[in-house]
Amino acid sequence: MIEKHVLKGNIIYTPQIGELIALPDSFILIENGLVTKTSATLPEEWSAAPIHDYGASLLLPGLTDLHIHAPQYAFRGLGLDMELLSWLDAYAFPEEARYADTGYATFSYSQFADSLRKSFTCRANIFATIHNNTAAKLAELIAKTGLYANIGKVSMDRNCPAELNEGTAALTAAAAWILEMQGRYDRVKPIITPRFIPSCSGPLLAALGQMTARYALPVQSHLSESLKEISLVRRLEPQSRHYADAYYRYGLLGGQPTVMAHCVHLSDQEKLLLKEHGVFIAHCPQSNSNLISGAAPIRSFLRAELKVGLATDMAGGAHMSLLRAMQDAVTVSKLRAALIGMDEEPLSLLEAFYLASKGGGAFFGKVGSFEPGYEADVLVINDAELSPLGLTLGQRLERVIYLADERHLQAKYVAGKEVLLTKDN
Ligand code: GUN
Ligand code: FE
Repeated sequence: MIEKHVLKGNIIYTPQIGELIALPDSFILIENGLVTKTSATLPEEWSAAPIHDYGASLLLPGLTDLHIHAPQYAFRGLGLDMELLSWLDAYAFPEEARYADTGYATFSYSQFADSLRKSFTCRANIFATIHNNTAAKLAELIAKTGLYANIGKVSMDRNCPAELNEGTAALTAAAAWILEMQGRYDRVKPIITPRFIPSCSGPLLAALGQMTARYALPVQSHLSESLKEISLVRRLEPQSRHYADAYYRYGLLGGQPTVMAHCVHLSDQEKLLLKEHGVFIAHCPQSNSNLISGAAPIRSFLRAELKVGLATDMAGGAHMSLLRAMQDAVTVSKLRAALIGMDEEPLSLLEAFYLASKGGGAFFGKVGSFEPGYEADVLVINDAELSPLGLTLGQRLERVIYLADERHLQAKYVAGKEVLLTKDN
């Protein structure tokens, strides 16, 4: 049976980078969770479909967080006074070790899932920890929210504290996670998650590479975040041409859909390799600032037609809001332009909106736009408080990106289904 429904409001989306579509008082026609089309009037054959009229509110495409760490939610906003490798040792690893404890993990992951449900995020790639049982708890909690997510049990077997070093058990644990998760939920899927090259031995990387091919699973990891990390990778993987090649050689780059966080210091050769294999770059501007990693050259990625989306990288980033990630992407690009020369044009807010919607959404398929055939992920924003009469829809969008928070989120739909924002847990 075909299930139809209609949403009405002020529609805004960006089907191509730099292009804004703004449709006042219009309809989104939805069939079986997919956008049939947007329309200024309600076609006759849709008159029987249920309509939700959101009046003066804005209807924006759902946003995708390409990279976030669930177990780091509990210490967000703390300890952001170090560079990456010291921060991992001092804060991230000790906190992640606590997720061996089911009680602590359930408490903490419930808070994370609740926040994500109430956020502007409709889809996310999520890192858990090495612990299969509590990663499964996270998957269960995220599945209940109605969001789409790829969740990775993290794999690591070197350069980490003993409690997080899986040793030779890493392989069987990764395989067990896949088998446990495959087909279990409609909207939550497993993703192969080597933490990064410094934390994974060659044999582990090779085995994970084989698993991605065998089970046709996507891959998420970190690439070229800080200069010290890159030197470490050079020492650990002397046989690789560069950092990206280390993943590539082990079958972890582009054989299946792949997303790499950061990519702050890529060489031209690495960019070519990423482009050739359709790898998504998860740009994490706030995290890159907090951990003094640098400012990724997003303009050059866009010129080279690489795939780019936005990410919060919580808790390298202190905030879960993708609106904030858009602001940060613009700010960081402006600082880059000011420091290295204006021939590298900063990102516009509209371009950042594209990256957070359709740019990152593409990792999940036809997501992040209201073009026909796209999944109906919709954010309903009540911006009355932020928008005096006389602003254009484009100006209202700017204001929302800079000033709105979760209180302005009136409703949220993911693949046509409403996500409950008001319930507590
Ligand atoms: N590289 C490896 N692990 C991490 C992590 O947890 N956060 C960030 N920002 N970078 C990483
Ligand atoms: Fe990260």
